[in-house]
Amino acid sequence: MNEIEKAKEHFGKLIEAQLKRVKQIKAEKDWIDYTKIKPIIIGTIGGDGIGPHITAEAQRVLEHLLKDEVQKGKIEFRVIEGLTIEKRSEVMKPVPDDVLEEIKKCHVTLKGPTTTPKKGDPWPNIESANVAVRKELDLFANVRPVRVSSQGIDWMFFRENTEGAYALGPFGVEITDDLTMDFTVSTKPGSERIIRLAFDYAKKNNIDRVTAVTKANVIKTTDGLFLKTFYEIAKEYPGINADDWFIDIMTAKLVDIKRRTQFKVLVLPNLYGDILTDEAAEFQGGVGTAGSANIGKQYAMFEAIHGSAPRMVKEGRTQYADPSSVIRAGSMLLNHLGYKDLGKKLEMALDICGQYEKKLVMTGRSTGATGREYCDYIMETITDPNLEKKWQEYQ
Ligand code: IPM
Ligand code: MG
Repeated sequence: MNEIEKAKEHFGKLIEAQLKRVKQIKAEKDWIDYTKIKPIIIGTIGGDGIGPHITAEAQRVLEHLLKDEVQKGKIEFRVIEGLTIEKRSEVMKPVPDDVLEEIKKCHVTLKGPTTTPKKGDPWPNIESANVAVRKELDLFANVRPVRVSSQGIDWMFFRENTEGAYALGPFGVEITDDLTMDFTVSTKPGSERIIRLAFDYAKKNNIDRVTAVTKANVIKTTDGLFLKTFYEIAKEYPGINADDWFIDIMTAKLVDIKRRTQFKVLVLPNLYGDILTDEAAEFQGGVGTAGSANIGKQYAMFEAIHGSAPRMVKEGRTQYADPSSVIRAGSMLLNHLGYKDLGKKLEMALDICGQYEKKLVMTGRSTGATGREYCDYIMETITDPNLEKKWQEYQ
């Protein structure tokens, strides 16, 4: 078979799989109701590199905050082992089958970063574990807050999480040695559900603007569908202003101190969301401070927005890794399960420790605190009876 026929056959299979996925999205069940579930099972997954260390700290905070719920039998914690690059390489799968089975037994998971290999790395070039879990559990919304109140920044990013350039990331084709092609995917129901979630969030929180970010002037078909869907859905929310920007100028506007505070809720395809949220997190103190919620209608996974920092491990600095990102993900987990007061408390403690009071500072090296010391500091701050008053003073 010549290369064109081979590529056509490959493309045909991809189309079949994506059409099947569209059908599945259309037939998906409604949102899970956590008030009806007992026990709610929270799985913790250490991951690789600095992952197990920072996740253990976050787990300590959650176990402390939820101890009454555990006692009442409403919450159960479970540790999931084996989502490591060693094991994934051994079985040559992004998520080993037995690990995936364990993950599916949990309603929500708190996950440490996992190594994502690329061509030329010492590990086999397997698909990212994050991306595989997001697709497998249909966690279509990647929700990432960034807030720096001293600078008037209060952004909520809704990154589409199962489509775009990520959907077929490992399934591109090397047609010849000189010609390679990747694919990007956008579906109508997949765009609708993430865009609707962004507008619903704005409506619930009395926010009067939702901004779409695409490159629809160049990537005309897939980004075009996303943008068209955005304005269709916007009509369902007459009190909310809808506008759109291209990713290049939006990247620039985030550093424009006069304009950036006007953006509130942003909704964007997968790859743009990946890139823009790292930039956004930098204003808050870096990716080490930013948490991320991967939300689907049946499952949810909460994690740091950053990777496993193999450089820190190699240089013997693991203990100085900042656990704030996974702890912030923990606050999002609490909110998601309906423990709004506990979630808010934890958010306030993270803000006080990381942005205002700064009694301890993380530098990623021995010049700063260790992750354990820093987590102790956060836990002391949570239990401070003046927590809310203290936090209000800084707003
Ligand atoms: C993120 C990360 C992942 C992504 C990597 C680790 C695959 O950068 O969660 O933003 O690209 O989505
Ligand atoms: Mg990223």
